[in-house]
Amino acid sequence: MSSHVQEDELAMSSDELLQAQLELYHHSFVYVKSMALGAATDLRIADAIHLRGGAATLSDLAAHTGIHPTKFSHLRRLMRVLTTSGIFSADVKARGDTVYKLTRVSRLLVGAGGESSRRRDLSPMVGVFVNPVAIAALFSIREWFTDENSAASSSLFEMAHGCTRWEMIAKDAGEGRVFNAGMAADSCLSMEILLKECSSVFGSLGSSLVDVGGAHGTAAAVVAKAFPHVKCTVLDLPRVVAGAPAHANLTFVPGDMFEYIPPADTVLLKWVLHDWPDEDCIKILRQCKKAIPTRDAGGKVIIMDMVVGSQGLQQETVSNEAEVLFDVFIMHIDGIQREEHEWRKIFFEAGFSDYKITPVTGIRSIIEVYP
Ligand SMILES: C[S@@+](CC[C@H](N)C(=O)[O-])C[C@H]1O[C@@H](n2cnc3c(N)ncnc32)[C@H](O)[C@@H]1O
Repeated sequence: MSSHVQEDELAMSSDELLQAQLELYHHSFVYVKSMALGAATDLRIADAIHLRGGAATLSDLAAHTGIHPTKFSHLRRLMRVLTTSGIFSADVKARGDTVYKLTRVSRLLVGAGGESSRRRDLSPMVGVFVNPVAIAALFSIREWFTDENSAASSSLFEMAHGCTRWEMIAKDAGEGRVFNAGMAADSCLSMEILLKECSSVFGSLGSSLVDVGGAHGTAAAVVAKAFPHVKCTVLDLPRVVAGAPAHANLTFVPGDMFEYIPPADTVLLKWVLHDWPDEDCIKILRQCKKAIPTRDAGGKVIIMDMVVGSQGLQQETVSNEAEVLFDVFIMHIDGIQREEHEWRKIFFEAGFSDYKITPVTGIRSIIEVYP
């Protein structure tokens, strides 16, 4: 192809060039949104607004967050990013004062107040997503794709930190706290809703359930409370189980899901398989199959994870973008957010015979998998 033809392909009018430049810079700056959200979460700005009856001025926010007086005008700039992104809203009053309010997104960042708002507070999960160790790993994508040495060995995370995510959580108490608090917050909000909305899935759990990779047992505790007749067990790595708070109705088993899963009628895998490549998922699912009875006897695995594309294929919706962003995020530990055909492949390779996907509004679906 001549260089003339190639040059023609790149031709744009002045308007197009300037618009393209704007869009390119916009995409380059998207991470600033994450950083601003992380800062607002750490500063507990949503609590400040909530505690002032749902409307707070910049001075209110400054007083609540304890920011240094020299940073007052910078707080206004941070809030401008967050209101432009729809995380908070802003009303400009007659005197020129701006009053900040919560939106449906920032209502999920309120931890102050009653039990019900605490149970919906997803601030700890923002801390997991906007986490320096995860972000540092994503800086090496180019090397990871192209480096000879990275081909044989490790995940982005191992390349950046010299250990796996789970090893870091085991040896660094601070990292463990951030991670487990995030998981607990997500389970608190989502389990109660999913149990209510997906009664067909949870109405037939049999008499026992094991939550594999169940962390501190928040999800299993919700199941145990809703279905007191179901004996609930949580399996996780020994260091994670050692730090779990006691739950009257849960049995914790320290162990390795690649080696052994305690027998139960139902195995729950919430946000576990998306952490692993296909060959590891197949090993985990084979252990699940050994742990449950036949389908006729009520055995099933319930997977709570994303099915990419399950909400339809419209482009540029929040849902579609969140799915593909989460997929590249989870790539930092060698995880995958799967489309239905990718799920099907690992189910059948692990020896399961059937599955049913219940799409749920939001970030994940429920998949029942049958032996
Ligand atoms: C993304 S977290 C999900 C936690 C929980 N299911 C939830 O959704 O809140 C993955 C969990 O898998 C656990 N895990 C990792 N490797 C494991 C293994 N080999 N055996 C058992 N659990 C493991 C981690 O400790 C962590 O608690």
